[in-house]
Parts: sequence; C-alpha cells; structure tokens
Amino acid sequence: MTERQPLRVVPLIDQRTAPLPTPGAAFLSGTRIAASGLLHDSLNRPLRDLRISVTDRCNFRCNYCMPKEIFGKDYPYLPHAALLSFEEITRVAKVFIAHGVQKIRLTGGEPLLRKNIERLIEQLSALRTLEGRPLDLTLTTNGSLLARKARDLKAAGLQRVTVSLDGLDDAVFRSMNDVDFPVADVLAGIDAAQDAGLGPIKINMVVKRGTNEHEILPMARRFKGSGMVLRFIEYMDVGATNGWRMNEVLPSSQVIQLIDAELPLLPLGASSPGETAARWGYANAAGQHDVAAGEIGVISSVTQAFCGSCNRARLSTEGQLYLCLFASRGYDLRSLIRGQASDTDLISAIGHIWQGRTDRYSELRRALPGDTATGAKRVEMSYIGG
Ligand code: GTP
Ligand code: 5AD
Ligand code: SF4
Ligand code: SF4
Repeated sequence: MTERQPLRVVPLIDQRTAPLPTPGAAFLSGTRIAASGLLHDSLNRPLRDLRISVTDRCNFRCNYCMPKEIFGKDYPYLPHAALLSFEEITRVAKVFIAHGVQKIRLTGGEPLLRKNIERLIEQLSALRTLEGRPLDLTLTTNGSLLARKARDLKAAGLQRVTVSLDGLDDAVFRSMNDVDFPVADVLAGIDAAQDAGLGPIKINMVVKRGTNEHEILPMARRFKGSGMVLRFIEYMDVGATNGWRMNEVLPSSQVIQLIDAELPLLPLGASSPGETAARWGYANAAGQHDVAAGEIGVISSVTQAFCGSCNRARLSTEGQLYLCLFASRGYDLRSLIRGQASDTDLISAIGHIWQGRTDRYSELRRALPGDTATGAKRVEMSYIGG
C-alpha cells in the first residue's frame, strides 16, 4: 500500500454491522500533512464545509429518501454504541477546522431526534475558525420538533436552520412525508425558529414531477417577502432505495420559468464560493432586485452539476468520512478516533484523504448514458446526511 492509498470501507448499506477494517499504518507513516487551512483535493477544491450526520433515524418516511418499504419497523438502525459521541464529533470537527472548514451543518436522518443535541451544539459553537471567527453553524431539519426546540437550539449557540418543506397543501405534504404529519405543525416550527432568531432561515423543497410541482407557485407566494429563502431542489438519484427516474426530475430551468411568469425574477450572483444554489431575486417594477421581496434558489444537482466547486466533506453517524454525496465507500475515522491516533495523526490522515479526492459524481452522471453514472450501490442520504 502506498502512502496515498487509503483503506476502503465496504459499502455500508449492506454491511454496516460487519466489522469495518481500520485505516492502515499507511496514513500515519510516510509524509505527514500538517494543518495549514489550505488543503486542496486533486481537482484543486478546498475543504470548507463539513456536514455531520448525528442520527440515521427519522420520524418521516419521505419517499425520495427513506421509503417505507425499505425503512420499515425491522430496519436495522445503528446501535447507540456505534454512533460517534458528542466529544468524538467535536474532536473531529476541530481537526477539520484546522484544515480550513468554516461551516458545519448538522444533519441526519432527523438531527433533532438525537438526544441532547443542544449539548453538541454548545460544544461546536465554542469552536473558532482558523481566522478566529465563529463557525457558520447550522442544521437541516424536517421541522417536526422545531416548535418545541427552537429556543433551546438558539440558546445553545445554533445560528440558523434550514427546514425541509415539500408543499403547503396538507394532503400533499402528508402523503410526501408518508407518516401523515400535518403541514401546520411544520409551519408552526418555522415560525418558532423565526421568533427564536434562527435566521436567515432557508426552506428546502424537493420537486418531484407529477408529485408536487403544483406546489411550486403556492410556496413561492407564501415565502416571498418573508425574509426566508426558498430553494427548489431537483430530485436526485442519491442512495439506492428511492427508485429514482429521470422523468420524475423537473429541471430547475422550468421552475424558474413557472415562477417568473407570475413573479418576475432576475439572476443574482453567488454569495459564497462553492454555493449549491443558483440565486434569483424578485424584481420590482423597474426590473431591479426588490430586496424586501427577497430571493429564491434552485439547486440543480441533476441538470447543472456543481462538482467543480464542491468543498463539502460528510461525516456519517458512525464516523465514516464520505467525500461525495454519491459515494459508495467511506473512510473509517471512528477506528482512528477510538484507537491510539493523536490529533496530529488525525490531521495527517484527513489531509491525505482529502488530497486524494477525485469525486465528481454529478458531472460524470451527465457524461454517461442511462439514468445513473455507475452501478455501484450508494450510501443512503439518511445515513450520510443531506
Ligand atoms: P447553505 O449554506 O444553507 O446555503 O447550505 P447548502 O447550500 O449546503 O444547502 P443545504 O445543506 O440546505 O443543501 C440543500 C440540498 O442541496 C441538499 O439537501 C441536497 O439535496 C443538495 N446538496 C447539498 N450538497 C450537495 C452536494 O454536495 N452535492 C449534491 N449533488 N447535492 C447537494
Ligand atoms: N433528492 C434531493 N434531495 C434530497 N434530500 C433527501 N433525499 C433527496 C433526494 N432524493 C434532501 C432534501 C431534504 C434533505 C434532508 O435532504 O433537501 O430536505
Ligand atoms: Fe427524514 Fe429528511 Fe429524509 Fe424526509 S428527507 S425522510 S425528513 S431525513
Ligand atoms: Fe460534491 Fe459529489 Fe455533489 Fe458533486 S456529486 S457536488 S462531488 S457531493
């Protein structure tokens, strides 16, 4: 094994409970990589964004993410001992910050289901970037527990939240979450987050052609001028269980056309490097951006891949490091953390892993015939985090 060759972990959806191999000495010997905050991968992409999945469980069963037929009552979720503890997560977060991470997003499953999540937020909010600034610390939630938890999350140091909401019509929403959860409760959660000051709030709507495209305009009307940013996400072929088909993807260009016909839009520039969403502002009568009316975003992972600027690393619930949302293999950091590895060892190991990164799944998908780019079984989004 050469020093650059990381130890590969077996595909996780089938074999999560099998013993995972531990990273070999190769990471820890040979050339050491020190933390400089200037780490780049093999496609010259920096490491800026760390997404941490804190639970693989969710109280919703959105068909595009955790279909009921697969995630039934017998589904083997991870046992508690397999999860990284809050102390372990914070330790890994520090190492990533040493390499330049500026933003940490907590995800799941549904992150608010993790017991005492506020304690983790307290620990993470105390960390500082290499420049000495607070992290951009955020969380993606389905909103079901927000009404109850928003104030405590804010008090613990969370800056903002992103709430998933696929429609305003109660029947459509109940059918998409597939657990008959009422939309009014999520809307109450969003209000509570706003009252608690967890902004700027982003609302993520996954658009599935034939399922909720008729909710696009009602959603746009509702959130225009609210101070919240509504983003439309193309339905993606992430994971291996959602039965994704290209003909269920509504291209973002059509979302823009539809909204623009009623509520005129104009393109805005990116607000940060590596941004997933293309921003569009509501126009005033003079054709200029009406700042009070706000903006929307479209996330076009299928029709306009943004791998070229992808600066995101993902830490799974049990401490596997994934370099792409569509990866089928991760790197077993937990065995390093629970072994003898020092922080310097961890810094070097992560440095090697990131430097060797070549992932650009969405770009490759476009280049290949058929619906998906590879036949490899991919990890589920509920395990790796959105
Ligand atoms: P903000 O800083 O809040 O704008 O975060 P973000 O742009 O990373 O957005 P968010 O985490 O809310 O991601 C929104 C959605 O975009 C996710 O739920 C995914 O569907 C998709 N997405 C996010 N990151 C990636 C990525 O790296 N690759 C792909 N293909 N899709 C992504
Ligand atoms: N396509 C697009 N986005 C998805 N998400 C989960 N599954 C998919 C998918 N198949 C995203 C949604 C949701 C977040 C938790 O993950 O944005 O809001
Ligand atoms: Fe749960 Fe979010 Fe997945 Fe829906 S998309 S099943 S709310 S993790
Ligand atoms: Fe990044 Fe992979 Fe998404 Fe491309 S497909 S943007 S490399 S996570």
